[in-house]
Amino acid sequence: MMKNKTSLFLTQKKLLKEAGCEDYEESAKFLFSKAFNIPLDQSYKYQSYQELNERATFFSKMVSRRAVGEPTAQIISSRCFWNNDFYVDKTVLDPRPESELIISIAKVLLFDGMKVLDLGCGSGCIGLSLYQENSNIRLFLADFSKKALNVAKKNALALEAECKLIHTDLFSNIDEKFDLIVANLPYIAKEDFFYLQKEIILYEPHEALYGGVLGLDVIQLFLRTVGQRLNKNGIFVMEFGKDQDTQIKNDLLRFKYRRFDFHKDMDNIKRAVCVKKDT
Ligand SMILES: C[S@@+](CC[C@H](N)C(=O)[O-])C[C@H]1O[C@@H](n2cnc3c(N)ncnc32)[C@H](O)[C@@H]1O
Repeated sequence: MMKNKTSLFLTQKKLLKEAGCEDYEESAKFLFSKAFNIPLDQSYKYQSYQELNERATFFSKMVSRRAVGEPTAQIISSRCFWNNDFYVDKTVLDPRPESELIISIAKVLLFDGMKVLDLGCGSGCIGLSLYQENSNIRLFLADFSKKALNVAKKNALALEAECKLIHTDLFSNIDEKFDLIVANLPYIAKEDFFYLQKEIILYEPHEALYGGVLGLDVIQLFLRTVGQRLNKNGIFVMEFGKDQDTQIKNDLLRFKYRRFDFHKDMDNIKRAVCVKKDT
């Protein structure tokens, strides 16, 4: 007997739950919405049997991938971040909601003609979201992963954003100066890395996450040189990990920065710092 879509949905949702998928409800909805090409908030609605036949296999195949741990965003090749859906695949970090804090801090700083660098751009979600806030900025997206830069380029084209892509290890291939630098660099400490969810370890690029023994290797190299790459009165906004704020404050003072504010994310955790260059 042919099942309607609601029962198909419930069966597949149960399958995800039994497979140990923590966000089984949300995953099932996203995959269902993708398979049947209907808006997320209508994912329970009944459609025709014919459509069910055409798309049910597609839905079930995606659920099977999710059941073995593949992240939903990679299965549907999309992650909603700030105001847009970004293309994502296994070569880039799946953008996290807490990184939207950088946009909240930086968007009020933007002005026409401002030179903005997103260093460690991954999918480009931070820089491109800022471009959406003011398309008169001059945007540069930089990463040491060529594959990530390809993803960022794809997203820039989809959003019709003008930007320059730079392949670089931190500032090694960058001679210019900027008015604003935003950076979400790797900051997971060695000890924490092994406690990450299995699906993160298996499906996300380690070089986007791992920040050395204490998690601060890349960030400290960044802090050492970022001032030289900022224009007069330039600003940088940087994300970091839970409980890293004290060490970062010490580093900022060590590198002679005095004008900075720490910002908390939606979980009330200090997650980003906005730093103004002194001269
Ligand atoms: C935590 S991910 C952030 C990606 C993206 N900005 C986001 O918020 O979703 C860190 C990114 O920094 C890049 N990266 C790591 N070390 C780097 C380095 N030394 N120079 C340039 N990019 C680097 C990684 O390839 C990765 O894309």
